[in-house]
Amino acid sequence: MKTRDRLRIAMQKSGRLTEPALELLKRCGLTFRQSRDKLFCFGEGEPVDLLLVRDDDIPGLIAQGVCDLGIVGRNVLDEFALTAGRDVAPLAEWRALGFGRCRLSIAVPQEMDYRAPSDLAGLRIATSYPGLLGAWLRGQGVGAGVVTLAGSVEIAPRLGTADLICDLVQSGGTLAANQLRETEVLLESEAVLAGPQTLPADERGDMIELLFRRLDGVIQVRE
Ligand code: PRP
Ligand code: ZN
Ligand code: MG
Repeated sequence: MKTRDRLRIAMQKSGRLTEPALELLKRCGLTFRQSRDKLFCFGEGEPVDLLLVRDDDIPGLIAQGVCDLGIVGRNVLDEFALTAGRDVAPLAEWRALGFGRCRLSIAVPQEMDYRAPSDLAGLRIATSYPGLLGAWLRGQGVGAGVVTLAGSVEIAPRLGTADLICDLVQSGGTLAANQLRETEVLLESEAVLAGPQTLPADERGDMIELLFRRLDGVIQVRE
């Protein structure tokens, strides 16, 4: 991998984390000139650039060294840790950023009788988080089928491709619209600043230290 002297941060191209992430970086004194294709944003003051990508791709880009840091949901980061191969560089959650709060939960059809995780034995659960769901099921000692879907998980019970779901819940609107009821919370999530466990020892490392100090100031003021 060619070494870069400018820091590169990956973030979600379009979604719930995009606006608050840009706002947070602005409050840290970072401003960007957006390129025409909107994939790459050049930093105007500090030597820090942005790469705007799909959130699910962010951990892999950091692990490969294409980006130095990423702003991504803890759910995506933790799922990557559980599903990436053993030969992949481990990542760290360097800072919790206090926005994009949501939870990864089990949700069942309104009319289903649910009392405890053991009620899930033998059922099929649709999710985009097979790693996190699988780890939780093992922890509960429950054997259930995991149906991995990239999106539209909430319609799987109506389509008959699964009995229930495990998905992100923020307002609860999606669950209500699909007659689903939240029963167990597997993970409390929010946007985090992710990076390699070992930070670069060059100028980029110095810039990361500076960014951490500014972030800590901004996050403290907000709390
Ligand atoms: C998530 C999740 C639900 C929705 C829940 O999807 O998959 O569909 O948000 O939010 P609510 O409780 O406020 O209704 P999101 O649209 O964030 O992204 P996705 O395209 O990755 O599913
Ligand atoms: Zn996504
Ligand atoms: Mg969704």
